[in-house]
Amino acid sequence: MTNSSARSEQFFTALGVKRLKDNSKTRSLETDLSLVETFITKQDKILDLGCGYGRLTLPLAKNDYDITGLDNCRPLLIQAKKDALGSKADVAYILGDLLKLPFKSKSFDKIICMWNTFHHLLTKEDQKKALAEMFRVLNDKGVVLIEVDDGDEPPGKEFLKKGYGPDKRLVDYDAEGNTLTAYLYNKKLLTALGKTSRFHENAVYPMKINGRDELLWVLEK
Ligand SMILES: C[S@@+](CC[C@H](N)C(=O)[O-])C[C@H]1O[C@@H](n2cnc3c(N)ncnc32)[C@H](O)[C@@H]1O
Repeated sequence: MTNSSARSEQFFTALGVKRLKDNSKTRSLETDLSLVETFITKQDKILDLGCGYGRLTLPLAKNDYDITGLDNCRPLLIQAKKDALGSKADVAYILGDLLKLPFKSKSFDKIICMWNTFHHLLTKEDQKKALAEMFRVLNDKGVVLIEVDDGDEPPGKEFLKKGYGPDKRLVDYDAEGNTLTAYLYNKKLLTALGKTSRFHENAVYPMKINGRDELLWVLEK
């Protein structure tokens, strides 16, 4: 496991399900679901990367989407599986790392990677590795939707004054005593990163979502 994966796992394990659920109240589930639903169809095999406790995975499965959730934080997945058991939804949850996906090549039509999951990859090497893995597990013409905060807008902009590491884009947030380290993107950095991958379509859409300035990144195989 790389440093990025180990650090995020440690952070989310310490944060725990309850506090992550509390934090998710800053977002509208309906807004996030309708955004994702513009991008997927019921014929697609969908992979939710960094699914957490299944905030989006379970409602999508309940709505008859064919979806698999993957996360590297065991306590979050345990909760996700419990919630799924209590519902009639058919959903698979897999413990795994974004950097080494435990799936055969060409297994999915769509990948979603929402709510800043991608900003836990702290080095260019890890970011490229994750993109290469997404490319590998997607079918031909498969598409990825990644959502991250726009680091050049508040609140990231303030934190970036103390940015360090690659491109000075690493920042440390204090989350109730736990340090969350994130790599903050802007449109230019995502576009440049996409160009290093094998995806032939690479488009970044700045958008206000849940009152925040975010970047929606769409990559097509
Ligand atoms: C802010 S949460 C978002 C959860 C979910 N996507 C949502 O929208 O509710 C970020 C998630 O990414 C997961 N994550 C971060 N790095 C990961 C990695 N290298 N491999 C797998 N999951 C990872 C964390 O464990 C966490 O559940």
